[in-house]
Amino acid sequence: MDRNRTTEAVHPKTATKVITITSGKGGVGKTNIVANLGITMSQLGKRVMILDADLGLGNLDILLGLAPRYNFSHFLNGTRSLEEVVVSGPEGIQILPAASGIDELTSINDEQRTRILSDLNGLLASVDILLIDTAAGISSNVTYFAAAAHEIVVVVSPEPTSITDAYALIKVLSVKYDASKFKLLVNMAANIKESQEVFRQLSMVTERFLDVDIEYIGYVKYDRNVVSGVKRQKAVRQLYPETDASRCLLSLARKLSDTPLPAAVTGGGGSSFWEKISRDTTD
Ligand SMILES: Nc1ncnc2c1ncn2[C@@H]1O[C@H](COP(=O)(O)OP(=O)(O)O)[C@@H](O)[C@H]1O
Ligand SMILES: [Mg+2]
Repeated sequence: MDRNRTTEAVHPKTATKVITITSGKGGVGKTNIVANLGITMSQLGKRVMILDADLGLGNLDILLGLAPRYNFSHFLNGTRSLEEVVVSGPEGIQILPAASGIDELTSINDEQRTRILSDLNGLLASVDILLIDTAAGISSNVTYFAAAAHEIVVVVSPEPTSITDAYALIKVLSVKYDASKFKLLVNMAANIKESQEVFRQLSMVTERFLDVDIEYIGYVKYDRNVVSGVKRQKAVRQLYPETDASRCLLSLARKLSDTPLPAAVTGGGGSSFWEKISRDTTD
């Protein structure tokens, strides 16, 4: 009975789909992708929240021209609740901003994990999709948020180092955290052909050495308007909804918001964000 009560207490009232956007290498466009996907999913009628989990170098708020009073570090150090940290962004998306310039090497401890679990749970009752933007690499903060999500989207660019770093990240998530399904998004590709070639190269090595399933979900074209957006602190989907990158992002947002939650989650099985985090915490 006790056990049931505990599960009920942490389980959200509505099933929120949790999607973590991550990468092996930095600078591949994760934050831009998260911001634009969030805005677009909201335009498509979803209730969206974004958690900036790049705890050391978070810049989602800057990218969207916001000046939040508090950030995730105030929550982690216990001075603010998540409800006090959340701010409203374009298209009504809710944003949990990260701190910039604090010690990014500090990893989230068990007590903080438990608080994330209970506080997020309350906030997510009215959210359809939670997008989590992470730092690059394989630090425990990155793997924690990736392993807890329903869907892991790995962003790569066509650079060879980005592909090898993506492989390293997938390897750690699969070997250490049992993740087996990944979605690959190729950013800054010249065209669809180049993005498919990146997918081919990566899947050639993962098929050979790892027991994982990687699905190619699409690409975002290299587009100077993304860079102009960054300079003007607006997402490309807001400024130039018809530009190449925006069209790609619209199709990705549709695809990611249409995929249903895995049956195990909606049926109360064992793989929700909260249950996974609880398991990690008690490990
Ligand atoms: N599709 C794109 N076309 C052109 N430039 C891009 C594209 N996506 C991202 N960029 C540029 O790449 C840089 C890094 O993007 P960012 O989203 O901060 O990456 P990350 O979060 O992975 O570190 C930004 O300056 C942005 O302007
Ligand atoms: Mg970033």
